[in-house]
Amino acid sequence: MAAHPRLLDLFCGAGGTAVGYRRAGFEVVGVDSAPQPRFPYAFVQADAMQLDPRFLASFDAIHASPPCQAYSDLAHRNGNADDWPRLIEPVRDMLVATGKPYVIENVEGAPLRNYIVLCGTMFPGLRVLRHRLFETNFIIPVPPHGRHPLCHTRDKRKRHYGTTDEMRDYVTVTGGGNCSIAAARDAMGIDWMTKKEINEAIPPDYTEYVGRYAMMAVPTPAPPEAVSAQAAAGAV
Ligand SMILES: C[S@@+](CC[C@H](N)C(=O)[O-])C[C@H]1O[C@@H](n2cnc3c(N)ncnc32)[C@H](O)[C@@H]1O
Repeated sequence: MAAHPRLLDLFCGAGGTAVGYRRAGFEVVGVDSAPQPRFPYAFVQADAMQLDPRFLASFDAIHASPPCQAYSDLAHRNGNADDWPRLIEPVRDMLVATGKPYVIENVEGAPLRNYIVLCGTMFPGLRVLRHRLFETNFIIPVPPHGRHPLCHTRDKRKRHYGTTDEMRDYVTVTGGGNCSIAAARDAMGIDWMTKKEINEAIPPDYTEYVGRYAMMAVPTPAPPEAVSAQAAAGAV
């Protein structure tokens, strides 16, 4: 048996989710359709929707971060949400079929069920405003969510809210370029990604939190003595 329970990280990107699960105690294997040279653990380049069910079943828990563009505010405002695949339902069917503890992560507006919302304000080491939904088939307490603090922006029209500093105040990390790569890395607790990768990433603190509860949902293997006693009983 592996020294650590094994978690499969589907749609793994450059590994924001993966690093949190590793910190929670899982051995992590990532799958992404694009090459991920900065993903820090074992990596398989493949279409996550075409995986062999026996490969999925070989893990103790599974996380999936399907592309969020179809569900995002921006796509709805631009009227092009239908240009993107809607993978949440087929991913859920695939994960439920394994019978393993699972997590599906996505943006607000995505059709998740039984989810909690995590925000950077819930984690003392972070200073990013980034709401992400986590659907799970195990129970996770919801951390308290306070009022959002003043957030840094490069938008001069918002100067009347007060002077901000991207290396001190909360930031948002988006493709729109509201902060530098240095500020994004510092705010998200990620020091190995490019700006494009970090725009899509989950702060590892989020999945370290989720991962601690996923770990409790992984069945404890029977100790070797119990297994041999059962085998002996079966042999009689
Ligand atoms: C939101 S990003 C994942 C971010 C990552 N969880 C993190 O925290 O760093 C979604 C990823 O899904 C990948 N992707 C899109 N369609 C895919 C598919 N059919 N199979 C596998 N990966 C896919 C993209 O290449 C992208 O890296």
